[in-house]
Amino acid sequence: LLAGAIAFAPVTAFAADLTIGFSQIGSESGWRAAETTVTKQEAADRGINLKFADAQQKQENQIKAIRSFVAQGVDAILLAPVVATGWDEVLEEAKDADIPVVLLDRTVDAPDDLYLTAVTSDLVHEGRVAGQWLVDEMDGADCRIVELQGTTGSSPAIDRKTGFEEAIAGHDNLEIVRSQTGDFTRSKGKVVMESFLKAEGGENICALYAHNDDMAVGAIQAIKDAGLNPGDDILIVAIDAVPDAHLAIANGDMNATIELTPNMAGPALDALEAYLADGTTPPKWIQTESKLFTAADDNQAIYEQKKDLGY
Ligand code: AHR
Repeated sequence: LLAGAIAFAPVTAFAADLTIGFSQIGSESGWRAAETTVTKQEAADRGINLKFADAQQKQENQIKAIRSFVAQGVDAILLAPVVATGWDEVLEEAKDADIPVVLLDRTVDAPDDLYLTAVTSDLVHEGRVAGQWLVDEMDGADCRIVELQGTTGSSPAIDRKTGFEEAIAGHDNLEIVRSQTGDFTRSKGKVVMESFLKAEGGENICALYAHNDDMAVGAIQAIKDAGLNPGDDILIVAIDAVPDAHLAIANGDMNATIELTPNMAGPALDALEAYLADGTTPPKWIQTESKLFTAADDNQAIYEQKKDLGY
């Protein structure tokens, strides 16, 4: 192994012999559902036996699932961690059992020798892209912004907030006036947006930044119910680029979204297969792309292409 590489003992195995445990967060968003579908498909295509555990948004369920995978002697574990902290002990247990763990789509606050690699986007960059889009769009005009945060304590909620704030820093015309979690769900996005509209008065809100599209889609309904035009009276930028966001942009209800690929499993399983075959050590971070989509794109066509992909 290279200096600093993870100290798991690789075993020679063919993909068809591999059993991999996948601890998934739950199904809070369309993006999450797509990630689950794609991961199951990627495993099936490679002849991998995937053991799937849905944690229903609870870290304790994820910890139990990882312990169960370790007890069953799986070859590797995929973990989409609901929150960033509190993983050291269970990751140590997997490491002691020589079972490599690959993080999917979210990062953890734990020493990086406790996992093989993390397949994620640059979550701070996504926030910066959203903030810069609004800076450019407003072009110096005043704008009171409301923010729907993702799940409290999750790396995308922390990093997407940081990135957005960095991008608007120094632009005194832009101000975040309300910021609250909507837990990455449509239903909470709607409820929290309703409370923002009530507290501020719809005409005093110029833009919504939502940490994912599902919350934005819920908020769009709240804005319509309040008699306002989403995408016009209130600009909306979010993250994921799920089919419904493309449709909302095509319909003029939303303005921009930043794409997060649901295919984290492809690069993760490539890395795991190479590592388990001959010990090839992947980089600690396998970064996926973040692409901005706006009304300038053919969102109707993109919606048609994406809608059958399991979102
Ligand atoms: O970790 C990725 C985020 O989790 C997605 O942006 C969101 O939709 C999901 O629930």
